Amino acid sequence: MNIKNTIFLALTTIFLISCTKTKKEEVAVLKYVEEPHSYAQPNEAVITHLNLDIDVDFDKEIISGTATYDIENNNSDHIILDAKNLVIQKVQADGKDTEFSLGAFDESLGQPLKIIIKKDTKKITVFYETTDKTEAVQWLNPQQTADKKHPFLFTQGQAILTRTWIPIQDSPQIRITYDATVRVPKELMAVMSAENPKVKSENGEYHFKMAQKIPPYLMALAVGDIAYKAVSDRTGVYAENSMVDAVQEEFSEMEKMVVEAEKLYGKYAWDQFDVIVLPPSFPFGGMENPRLTFATPTLIAGDKSLTSVIAHELAHSWSGNLVTNTTWDDFWLNEGFTVYFENRIMEALYGKDRANMLGLIARQDLDEEVEGFKATPEMTHLKLNLKGKNPDDGMNSIAYDKGFLFLKTLEELVGREKFDVFLKEYFQSNAFSTMTTEKFIDILNTNLLEKSNVTFNTEEWVYNSGVPSNAFEIKSDKFEKVKQTIADIIKNNKVDVGVTKDWTTQEWVYFIRNFPEDITPTQMAIIDNAFDLSNSTNSHKAMVWYEQSIKHNYRGNNVDKKIEEFLTTVGRRWYVSTLYTAYAEADKVDEGLAIYKKARQNYHSVTVNTIDKTLGYKE
Ligand code: BES
Ligand code: ZN
Repeated sequence: MNIKNTIFLALTTIFLISCTKTKKEEVAVLKYVEEPHSYAQPNEAVITHLNLDIDVDFDKEIISGTATYDIENNNSDHIILDAKNLVIQKVQADGKDTEFSLGAFDESLGQPLKIIIKKDTKKITVFYETTDKTEAVQWLNPQQTADKKHPFLFTQGQAILTRTWIPIQDSPQIRITYDATVRVPKELMAVMSAENPKVKSENGEYHFKMAQKIPPYLMALAVGDIAYKAVSDRTGVYAENSMVDAVQEEFSEMEKMVVEAEKLYGKYAWDQFDVIVLPPSFPFGGMENPRLTFATPTLIAGDKSLTSVIAHELAHSWSGNLVTNTTWDDFWLNEGFTVYFENRIMEALYGKDRANMLGLIARQDLDEEVEGFKATPEMTHLKLNLKGKNPDDGMNSIAYDKGFLFLKTLEELVGREKFDVFLKEYFQSNAFSTMTTEKFIDILNTNLLEKSNVTFNTEEWVYNSGVPSNAFEIKSDKFEKVKQTIADIIKNNKVDVGVTKDWTTQEWVYFIRNFPEDITPTQMAIIDNAFDLSNSTNSHKAMVWYEQSIKHNYRGNNVDKKIEEFLTTVGRRWYVSTLYTAYAEADKVDEGLAIYKKARQNYHSVTVNTIDKTLGYKE
């Protein structure tokens, strides 16, 4: 071989090697996008499976143990996890101690945990414990539970709180399977977002397995003196003993919901669908932890009237848990789709009237939210820009209700039949992966709009503020009648009780929320005396009545005392935030603060964070 040939061969080889490298890098770069709310660099090294082994110590209020990860290393000498307010004791790579360091602390993101690994490292183990600053976990004393005998604990991971109880790559675009061993006091039962026990173990040790890949924000744990009751072969409820029968009865239609949901968008992918009803400080109506939705006890109204929240969390088994928003800026892909799907499940079970009422309530929420963001209209975009913000502060009902209305408008445009085919295909072909807004728009254009030969102002809906003028107008005959009832009462200063005889909770809520701006305390008293709203046992009705009482300065029938009782027991953020906001807007911050000072210690950190801002509270 002459020198020319040798050089040629050498150059070709170098060229080929560099090509392969570039190609490999390209693939890696394409796999995960830049994400502003996680320090993890999954393109360098990523976790694929977690084995969690922890002790739950109620005396010290500490969770401690190990998190062992299988990792996929793309040639890196380190891997970065997210951690916040955790004590990291030591770290091992394939069973041997390795170097690690915690970077600078950020108030919302926490710290990067950098762990030194070798190119061929397969597993890392982090030895750690939680602290009294761990935000995901709420430790409850017996007084804060229904049965008042034993302590209770639950976690809340979404949006970026899982890193406060497990060191982890806490980005929604990462997916892991997990196993866990959890040791708790033997009078208590532990349950997770995984395959769960149905009875207590003898020694307080529990083993869990989540065989499907989930994003880290869906890691969840609850520990308490709870019992299980089945609703069907694959659905059921957990709750404290004194409540479990009522909960089983309230949610007796869970199986029907799953059946209807499957008819719409394909097989339920998580085998079991259970709900645990937590103590009243749980900060959400519901949280869609896979296989085990976490729920507030305020849903137990006695007449199944608030079960749309269960339909909502079930719907997340497709939108969110199966097809997950890639970043929190794409949050509307989780929530907007879920509100739409929730509405369809409710229609399938209870008919169009109920669905239209829920749809119109969403529309009213949306209009109020848009009005509230007049000064910052970019907050009303579907696609958000939460960089530099705590995602939890940027998440509001726009994602839910504008997202819902966008999909409802599309459904009306192309027809339900085509829309359902499109959605079913969308969930099937993107199952167990993540979705960006941009990719969704591409899929929508290719698979629905072009095929149906229609044009649609998708960009305006997604990237502009407010509600586009082509929004579908939801109508409800029932609500028209409610409006008439309000007008009659205000005109005559008297109430015809008979008209309201068959009203559902939705009609009551609409009635109460739509009092005229200038309603007087005397008119409120006439209404209260007729319907005893200050003593309502339906949490949603009560909440909107309290809101109006604060707003319109109504103080009859001991309503102030009722409001205080409500705010010091219930921690559901949407409810309490509505009421504290009403105090703030009615120039009664001091009244709100006086209650908040007593209530604050009962709330979970996500509620505390919100209300501190609402009332300008400083410790
Ligand atoms: N996933 C949400 C709760 C959530 C949102 C937690 C953002 C953390 C950050 C859940 O599915 C939800 O939307 N719950 C609603 C009920 C629903 C019917 C609107 C709630 O809690 O009110
Ligand atoms: Zn939701």
